[in-house]
Amino acid sequence: MTKEQAKKKISELTKVLNQHNYKYYVQDKPSISDFEFDKMLEELITLEQAFPDLVSPESPSQRVGGTITKSFNTIKHDYSMLSLGNTYSEEELTEFDNRVRKSIGDKFEYVCELKFDGVAISLKYVQGKLVQAVTRGDGEQGDDVTTNVKTIRSIPLELHNSDYPDQFIIRGEILMPKSVFNGINKEIHDELTEDGFDEEEIKEKLLKNPRNAASGTLKMQDSRIVSKRKLDCFLYFLLGKDLPFSDHYESLKAARKWGFKVSEYIVKVKDLQGVLDYIKEWETERFLLPFETDGVVVKVNNYQLQTELGFTAKSPRWAIAYKYKPESVATILNSVSYQVGRTGAITPVANLKPVQLSGTTVKRASLHNADQIEKLDLRLGDHVFVEKGGEIIPKITSVDLKHRDPSAEPIKYPVQCPECDTTLIRLEGEAVHYCPNQSTCPPQIKGKIEHFISRKAMNIDSLGEGKIEMFYDHGLIKDAADLYLLKHSDIIGLEKTLDSNGSQKKISLQEKSVSKILKGIEESKEVSFPRVLYAVGIRYVGETVAKKLATHFGSIDRIREATIEELKDAPEIGEKIAESIKHWFAQPENLELIAKLKDNGLQFDLGEQVKLMSNKLSGLTFVVSGKFTKFSRDELKETIELNGGKVSSGISSKTSYLVAGEESGPSKSEKAAKLDIKIITEKDFLNLLNG
Ligand code: IVH
Repeated sequence: MTKEQAKKKISELTKVLNQHNYKYYVQDKPSISDFEFDKMLEELITLEQAFPDLVSPESPSQRVGGTITKSFNTIKHDYSMLSLGNTYSEEELTEFDNRVRKSIGDKFEYVCELKFDGVAISLKYVQGKLVQAVTRGDGEQGDDVTTNVKTIRSIPLELHNSDYPDQFIIRGEILMPKSVFNGINKEIHDELTEDGFDEEEIKEKLLKNPRNAASGTLKMQDSRIVSKRKLDCFLYFLLGKDLPFSDHYESLKAARKWGFKVSEYIVKVKDLQGVLDYIKEWETERFLLPFETDGVVVKVNNYQLQTELGFTAKSPRWAIAYKYKPESVATILNSVSYQVGRTGAITPVANLKPVQLSGTTVKRASLHNADQIEKLDLRLGDHVFVEKGGEIIPKITSVDLKHRDPSAEPIKYPVQCPECDTTLIRLEGEAVHYCPNQSTCPPQIKGKIEHFISRKAMNIDSLGEGKIEMFYDHGLIKDAADLYLLKHSDIIGLEKTLDSNGSQKKISLQEKSVSKILKGIEESKEVSFPRVLYAVGIRYVGETVAKKLATHFGSIDRIREATIEELKDAPEIGEKIAESIKHWFAQPENLELIAKLKDNGLQFDLGEQVKLMSNKLSGLTFVVSGKFTKFSRDELKETIELNGGKVSSGISSKTSYLVAGEESGPSKSEKAAKLDIKIITEKDFLNLLNG
């Protein structure tokens, strides 16, 4: 293809892709399938790769990201980015309305809009093209996040029509849709559950709310990840010299025609009553929207009147925000159940009389732990208030004591495991109770086997939760190693009753499933050591930690024999993980499991899999400290190990070199100097390796 032909094709594809993008993300009316869209986009990217000088900054290919921003430049806003005064009641709104009317009289309109709960953004367009996207920052200057913002499909890179001002700023809110937020959290939850974290620990690691998530995403260094996170953006404020309209409402209507996503729920009202009606209408209706809103914004429509009203130091006098109170509903606490996780951690869950809250039906609420139950002083049958408060899992905030039955007994936290009757334990300093019976508590055993077969572990996808339960219930498996003893005759025709939508259904294992299951189990014997190590389910040994351990020690026996200190010498292993590993190997049933799995031919060392890159560093022990330019600290450690060297965390007489990067701590250098140990730079290290 000649350059001329490529140019023509690129321009055609750009036009069509932009049109479809607009239909899909701004108008919500897709007209082609994702598959067709992706095919065209791929064609465009291939052409752009062949003719890189034909790539324009507005190309739809910019939407997929790829640029890494190490640190965001600070940009001064052309116009300060003010926030709005907040009100929480009708009285405060009436005061606002009185102030406005005192200043400009009664002849004006208000515009009412939803207050989006996201991250404010300021976009600059020059000659119809997006040239800059800046966060609010301190209101005077913010971060240049243009590359990341370009991945947001609903933000036009090039405007439609031609009646837009030559240069203008448009401001709006970047949001993470609820569905995207929930999806990401589900993924994090599943992954951490697999890694053996309990509910309390997982809760700390989940994205807190869509606003935080949007803000964190916008500041990510890798725009490719930003692109995948499917942010959205509503625009609500046009700024510039000589705007061609006399009021805000007309400006937003025009912005919509230029290709911006402007909310369809913007209305003009003639007085305060109109504002109050709008607030009432959206009070509960807003929960049905696909993104979070936390209030209503009220603006005087006419630009001339806005100018007359002016600004205070912090916010305009012509606009105000009304914030909805977090919704709280009353319901009844029917019972408390106690779930037992794979690690034995107990999670108390409140079972509630179903109630509508912020757009969803709530039947259960998290109670976290025994302290929480005690703090709330809960009794069965209590009338309780439930709130979502920006978090996903609703929580009980208080008890309505007016309705309390005086004879109701406080809830007693169980002393024994609800599944196996073993006495629960509570470790010092921890809020969570555990069932210590790792070897025979059914949900712990089943949970461990489910983890063992999971995708990132042994990946036996012909098995699943249902089949594990079936084999366990029939007494065929008591641990993961028993899977390898299953025979055709054990499982053919095995039956299980399923509850599906209230009716019971019997299923039985047929020839096809049986042979698939046995084949899957057999094939898993080829799974590499790091994944087997992850599969056996040591608390805190997730996928990455398992890889690091496997590379560092090479075999399960060396991991078992390692002291806490030696474990901590491996990259990324700290005290908590090291102790958990030691504890795991101290349990006889775990050693037995390893022995049984070994007998069945599973991989418990790296064998031929890791070929040393060289032996150049053999016999040398390194301590690594500080930051490096060519490697991350862990990469440097791995490089040492792959070239036959040893890495240790503390300087001792056995240390051969201290590799000191930037910000390397002075205490290490001092100790090295004292012991006459060579201190080398990253460059020296590379010379040593390559010399
Ligand atoms: S107008 C000078 N309209 O809420 C007025 N703001 O505390 C510019 N927000 O800074 C803002 N929805 O980040 C406006 N429909 C809306 C909004 C909105 C959300 C945010 C925005 C603003 C903050 C006010």
